[in-house]
Amino acid sequence: MHGGATVKRGLVVVALVLVALQIALGGWTSANYAAFACATDYPTCLQQWWPQTDFREAFVLWRGIGVNYEGGVLDGPARTAIHLTHRWFALLVAGHVLILAVKAMRQPATRNYGRAIAALLVVQITLGIANVKFGLPLWNATAHNGVAAALLFALIALLARTTPAPR
Ligand code: HEM
Repeated sequence: MHGGATVKRGLVVVALVLVALQIALGGWTSANYAAFACATDYPTCLQQWWPQTDFREAFVLWRGIGVNYEGGVLDGPARTAIHLTHRWFALLVAGHVLILAVKAMRQPATRNYGRAIAALLVVQITLGIANVKFGLPLWNATAHNGVAAALLFALIALLARTTPAPR
């Protein structure tokens, strides 16, 4: 049976996958010291819309044992590619999650979940942009990490709410 009074489960699952991928991209951004790969420019990057990038080097996931990663090992264009991927993927995440949040808000049973998810998303994007604009203040970077977890949690809560009870 499909409960017509809740948002479609598939939409929530897709949102969870997108947010999980975005979190992985964020981790990759900080782990590769790519937070400043666009200097403090947003929405442009190094004062351009499409600066030099190196996507091939950017996503080499395994470089063997013994590499010292302190400070990062990638050159500028590879870091820029990572940073821009995290930025642009955020748009896709935001589009999907906002549509989901609005649908959830329209149903009384999930209204507050929808509100919470929309609010967390707006805060998260703002913190992301502030990371770049203000040169990564520690509290801002920490909040950006924490709100990502809260967003994931809120989506899991909504998933539980849209799962039919076992008979
Ligand atoms: C739904 C959207 C987003 C999610 C879920 C998300 C999540 C994350 C996560 C989990 C991290 C890793 C934090 C860490 O390792 O401490 C991160 C890093 C980062 N994010 Fe996002 N992010 C989002 C959108 C954005 C946007 C729109 C920007 C704007 C440019 C942005 C800029 C950054 C930067 C610069 C870092 C690196 C921070 C560092 O080096 O500590 N994020 N993001």
